Amino acid sequence: MTTYLGIDVGTSSVKAVLIDGNQNVIAEASSPVEVLRPRPMWSEQNPEGWWIAAQEAVAHVREVAPQDFLELEAIGLSGQQHSATLLDRHGCVLRPAILWNDGRCGRECAELLERVPDFLTRAFNTTMPGFTAPKLLWVARHEPEIFKETAKVLLPKDYLRFRLSGAFVSDMSDSAGTLWLNIARRTWDEVLLEGGGMTLSQMPDLVEGSEISTYLSRDVASMWGLGDRRVPIAGGGGDNASSAVGIGAVGMGDGFLSLGTSGVLFVSTDRLVSLPERTLHGFCHALPQRWHGMVVALSAASALSWLGALLGQGHDIAGLIRGAETFAADPERRRSAPIFLPYLTGERTPHNDPNATARFDGLRAEHDSAALAYAVLEGVAFALADGLDVLKAADAAPSSCMLVGGGSRSAFWNGLLADVLAISLDLPEGAEIGAAFGAARLGMVAAGAGTIDDVCKKPAIRARFNPDPEKLPLLAIRRNHYLKMYPS
Ligand code: XUL
Repeated sequence: MTTYLGIDVGTSSVKAVLIDGNQNVIAEASSPVEVLRPRPMWSEQNPEGWWIAAQEAVAHVREVAPQDFLELEAIGLSGQQHSATLLDRHGCVLRPAILWNDGRCGRECAELLERVPDFLTRAFNTTMPGFTAPKLLWVARHEPEIFKETAKVLLPKDYLRFRLSGAFVSDMSDSAGTLWLNIARRTWDEVLLEGGGMTLSQMPDLVEGSEISTYLSRDVASMWGLGDRRVPIAGGGGDNASSAVGIGAVGMGDGFLSLGTSGVLFVSTDRLVSLPERTLHGFCHALPQRWHGMVVALSAASALSWLGALLGQGHDIAGLIRGAETFAADPERRRSAPIFLPYLTGERTPHNDPNATARFDGLRAEHDSAALAYAVLEGVAFALADGLDVLKAADAAPSSCMLVGGGSRSAFWNGLLADVLAISLDLPEGAEIGAAFGAARLGMVAAGAGTIDDVCKKPAIRARFNPDPEKLPLLAIRRNHYLKMYPS
């Protein structure tokens, strides 16, 4: 039985999943990686840590399924988007990677818009501190010696590809998040590069996510016990596009809502969608001739972990959610609950403001941990509703929407999200769904194991959450209050 390996370079861990030709999960593993926050608003990681964690995760998969691993036909890669990995001309890492949730380069975002007067129409996106291009301008200004030495800039999964193969290649979905790509033509844009002080030679080659990018190096193949097999590595995708492939969100209007560290609403489209003035992320999909619209709330499930840690209930998030559910069963208490603005790490959609801060409004002596937990769950839902409004304005609202990510384990939160967003949300079957699984699917397509439509099927639906009309009037009043909090 042939097998396929997907590896996802996440922010909290690197995950590996081995599937067979029928897409059954044979083995999966994850290995943690550390986030460094050396200064306020900074968020960094050591690329060596991704490589070590990837090796650990793959070693675990090999241990669980040694025979199946020998039948490996292809690999697919996925990873956190935007994070800048700078290499010198020998392929050595020059500084810790600057991550997608780092907020240091607000000034450089404004500068990029000045340097390239037609930036918004050329990039189809606006500049945001999370994206890659302004990070490099920051390095040029603050670390000119490092900038001078920079021979290649890679995204996390492409750095892993380099370690696996020695090749410098990226895919369209991930490269779209650099702000150096012409998203319509799916090629590097020399004007955008020049505006950011970069050159074409610093960019990796480009392939579609479902194409072969390169092959596993002899050294790694023999380290993994694969002898001299030439195992192809698919282009892969950014973690959001890969998750979409994993749940079959590949046709026009197919959407998902991901509740991870950040909250993401993603919609697959058959044309480029763009609304930069409202912070829509208009990117390429990981499949040829497909694009997607996306909105990102920077603090989602992480807002709940933050509250848990603060209340000393860091290890009992489920208990915190149960408390919120009991609290919310009483409409009177719900009406007088505090309202939470979840901008703990600034915000992208809809404000594009790294300096935005979080806050509880309406706190009173009677409010306990359950009231705060309810407010956090509801506040994150309000932030995502702002994102849905942006997708609607771009004519890219999802026609169907699945729930993915750790936060979707809570039926209560899923129901609250359906109420606040006023759309139905589908929870798919199967714990295997995720970006690593989507990457493995891209490996299958690249290896010729099936067409995109054969391979990228939608999973069965375990539960559907429909908006409850009775809840809507009160939520509308509370959202109105929420909408006034950021401007004030
Ligand atoms: C998307 C984004 C995040 C990261 C998380 O624009 O910044 O979703 O991809 O890994």
